[in-house]
Amino acid sequence: MLSAALAETQISFEALRDREFSRLDAQDHAYLDYAGSALYGDSQLRAHQAMLSEGIFGNPHSDSGPSRTSTAIIVASRRRVLQFLDADESTHDVCFTANTSAAIKLVAESYPFGADSTFLLSADNHNSVNGIREYARRAGARVRYIPLDDELRLQDAEGIIESEPNGGLLAFPAQSNFSGVWHPLGLVAKAKSRGFDVLLDLAAYVPSRAFSLRQCPADFVAMSFYKLFGYPTGVGALLARREALAKLGRPWFAGGTVLFASVAADTHFLRSRHEAFEDGTPDFLGIAGLDAGFDLLAEAGMDRLSAHVAALTRMLIEQLRALRHRNGAPLVKIYGPANTIDRGGTVAFNVCDRDGVPMPYTLVETRARQAGVSLRGGCFCNPGASESAFGLDPTRVGDCLADLGATFTPERFAACTGTAVGAVRASAGLANNRDDIQRAVDVVASFDS
Ligand SMILES: Cc1ncc(COP(=O)(O)O)c(C=O)c1O
Repeated sequence: MLSAALAETQISFEALRDREFSRLDAQDHAYLDYAGSALYGDSQLRAHQAMLSEGIFGNPHSDSGPSRTSTAIIVASRRRVLQFLDADESTHDVCFTANTSAAIKLVAESYPFGADSTFLLSADNHNSVNGIREYARRAGARVRYIPLDDELRLQDAEGIIESEPNGGLLAFPAQSNFSGVWHPLGLVAKAKSRGFDVLLDLAAYVPSRAFSLRQCPADFVAMSFYKLFGYPTGVGALLARREALAKLGRPWFAGGTVLFASVAADTHFLRSRHEAFEDGTPDFLGIAGLDAGFDLLAEAGMDRLSAHVAALTRMLIEQLRALRHRNGAPLVKIYGPANTIDRGGTVAFNVCDRDGVPMPYTLVETRARQAGVSLRGGCFCNPGASESAFGLDPTRVGDCLADLGATFTPERFAACTGTAVGAVRASAGLANNRDDIQRAVDVVASFDS
């Protein structure tokens, strides 16, 4: 809890909006797609530009002065990432990647799946986690999904974990990129006690909520920095417990990952720890831009940011739920929790006609775009949460997808299943204020009839 004196000295979100994101008001724009990408603040650009224009940075794989400068920045950035996730430098490593998907793929392609292991994952997952099943199956592992309930929360996850005899890899998102649900972090320790390694997808969670690897003993966590502070866009990270990283068997080697490689002797030897996982030249100039992003989040304060996002989310949900057609029918169907309990700042919904039938999400997306409001439409790369939200029958889904194959379009799929698929997603973050929420609500309200 902040003391009153400290709270008074901290910058308000209103002041941050004016100082960092004045371009939003200058262009009369309400940006509510934080789950797609955060927005960068002006101070990040200034700090990065000053650093680049003053410094001389070489490839960190060389040993010149400028190369050592780059290396020093990468080393400091690893520390900052560890600090942000409250991880111990002596037990955890940071592998810089291009994004969350690349971080997840490092685990996917290297995890020792076998016939006696299970790849267990939540039905609510981004496709970048679903895709791990291809590696798991190729290695003969069993793939099992934890289903979702009506609120799009995990159903009987503990029971399913307990029923698995051999362990393997469990993967789930700390926060859903579809519904905003926070899945229980307590499952991590539970799964580990049953012989699972755990990969936690933090991409949607950490942009507005503090996370501690000391408290949550996940083996691997993945994140993208543009989702935290908008810039740079080409840097992500896999954080791993050192013993967990040592379990991974890399399927290849590349520049930067080897102590030596010989063509004559046809052999190679991988470097240790994170160095074995960073293929080629890291985005050293992008990594140099991380510090200013972390500074901005630190200035806002993660706990204050969480509270800010929660307040905006509450306003959005309450106002959407209150909207009615003239015949009294609700205008909006929310997927996932229609309250603010155990959820983040992402809300998925459809606008319904006066008979309760969802309208195509593209209509809402288009009207929002015309009104200068950024929302996202579709299934958000999360087929499991979408299928649960829209109540799709698995057999019908399978039949339709088999029939459509390469001719698939969302419209043909909807015609085949008889269910309109796709939703609208609003997601709030650091730059947002109540006016942004009101503008999104006004777009939705304009569909009343
Ligand atoms: C929960 C979650 N996981 C993974 C990803 C993939 O992130 P990226 O596209 O940065 O690799 C996203 C992106 O939206 C996400 O929200």
